[in-house]
Amino acid sequence: MHLIEAQRHYQPLINNGLESFLGKQRFLEPFLQDTYGIIKKYIENGGKRLRPLLAIQAYDAFGGQSGGIFPAAIALELLHNSTLIHDDIIDEDERRRGKPTTHAQLREMFRKDNKEVQYDGTIFSRRSSRFCVATAICAGNILYALSLRSLSETDTDDSSLQRCQSILTDAIQIVNNGQLLDLAYETSDITENEYLGMIEKKTGNLFKASVEMGAILGQASPSQFTLISRYAKRLALAFQIRDDLMDIDPQSKKANTFGSDIRRGKLTLMAIVAQERCDSSQKALLSGFGNPQASPEQIEQVIRVFQDTKAIDYTRTVAQTNVESALDDLKHLDIPRQNKEFFEEFAGFMIQRDC
Ligand code: IPE
Ligand code: IPE
Ligand code: MG
Ligand code: MG
Ligand code: MG
Repeated sequence: MHLIEAQRHYQPLINNGLESFLGKQRFLEPFLQDTYGIIKKYIENGGKRLRPLLAIQAYDAFGGQSGGIFPAAIALELLHNSTLIHDDIIDEDERRRGKPTTHAQLREMFRKDNKEVQYDGTIFSRRSSRFCVATAICAGNILYALSLRSLSETDTDDSSLQRCQSILTDAIQIVNNGQLLDLAYETSDITENEYLGMIEKKTGNLFKASVEMGAILGQASPSQFTLISRYAKRLALAFQIRDDLMDIDPQSKKANTFGSDIRRGKLTLMAIVAQERCDSSQKALLSGFGNPQASPEQIEQVIRVFQDTKAIDYTRTVAQTNVESALDDLKHLDIPRQNKEFFEEFAGFMIQRDC
């Protein structure tokens, strides 16, 4: 199946699954009902559904029978969204998927009902900031719990379910380890390998977990499991590198957070390479890097240094190399032609995408 066809076919099914699962969450307290409404809308407002799609295709490739993967696929998307809610607090981003982030929506909810009064807290200087961050942390945690709940509804043998639960629990921990390193690296010098290790955790692990859960539930052999797991790990590196590139691409769908990584001082691969290669006059142009108040001109200057040092070209090559390695793993996988076609196209999409 081609990637486009798979997306057209499965996205509505995944969306229906999410809607009916989340629809069961009903509360008597109006505040809980409103907060869950925001969570539900946030999840339903788009998203490419790449992780459930990968799980479904892996399941299908190894002979899984229709339907049995859905609770796991839903679990993956819920977990992904919970990491996004927390990530947008960490990165102080106000928009995602073309709409306000969860904490931004919760802030609006607070402001509708409450006046902003003088507030001198130990962390926040506005009451609405404390409210929206605290409630968005809870919202993200709720999605972790719902993710595990959805997985537990999988109709499979005990041993397969246990393996999937262990993969999902590890994913929660490893993604967060990656996020911790991402934060720590904002204030230290790191190498290319340290960067790759960090993105393998914060982004790679959930892609890997997706194909692994599909493979387990579809009863893949141990050798096929290892190959598809490595395929996913490699393509996910390309996915995150492309994500970093989109942060400075005004044409991409992420253009509304243009330069966010630069303002936060994220040591992406381009930033690491540019810093290694830049001369003293170029160094002087990096003043916008790590400056939350950087002007659009300062951001442009940083991007120019990324270009002039060929850090962007280098970064693209690393992404391309990882896609080629992923395709190499795919060659050795013994799966039907139509599934291979999907996985080949999926790998290509990792570096061609602009959303
Ligand atoms: C965004 O992931 C977060 C990263 C790991 C870079 P996606 O690009 O898959 O997000 P949605 O779900 O499609 O919005
Ligand atoms: C997000 O990385 C990784 C996780 C959500 C764990 P980014 O911070 O680069 O993702 P975007 O760019 O906000 O989507
Ligand atoms: Mg982010
Ligand atoms: Mg982040
Ligand atoms: Mg990003």
